[in-house]
Amino acid sequence: MAKSPKILILNGPNLNMLGVRETAIYGSNTLADIERMCTRRGKELSLAVDFRQSNLEGELVTWVQQARTNAAGIVINPGAYGHTSIALLDALRMADKPVIELHLSNIHRREAFRHHTYTSQAATGIICGLGAHGYVLAVEAMAELTSKKDRA
Ligand code: DQA
Repeated sequence: MAKSPKILILNGPNLNMLGVRETAIYGSNTLADIERMCTRRGKELSLAVDFRQSNLEGELVTWVQQARTNAAGIVINPGAYGHTSIALLDALRMADKPVIELHLSNIHRREAFRHHTYTSQAATGIICGLGAHGYVLAVEAMAELTSKKDRA
């Protein structure tokens, strides 16, 4: 049987604290819960899911660079680095594959400093405001985006 294409799902700073962090905004699912949801949906869609989190900007940049050759697409919740990181934007621009930017909360209903993200300039599409379910939708969108010539 052919190997399933792999998608990388990256999570930025403070997302390791989901489940205890501002639950009124981010919900009560932990990041491990969300990883399980993504892996399950990925399996149903014949996609392998590589799910990671880091609080370090440089580590996220390195993972995005590596995805150029070892993933078919990238889903990224950049956390606060979305609002600040030109380095992450540059790395995503080099990726040359589908990129979905994702936020649990609707960043456009929140403080003005959250309305702009650098990373969105490199995104094929953006999902925000749908909580943990947004990750499942991102996996489904990736199945579609990588189903043709983009599959690695
Ligand atoms: C977030 C939104 C960001 O503004 C915030 O800094 C986060 C989480 C979200 O998933 O809603 O860390 O990316």
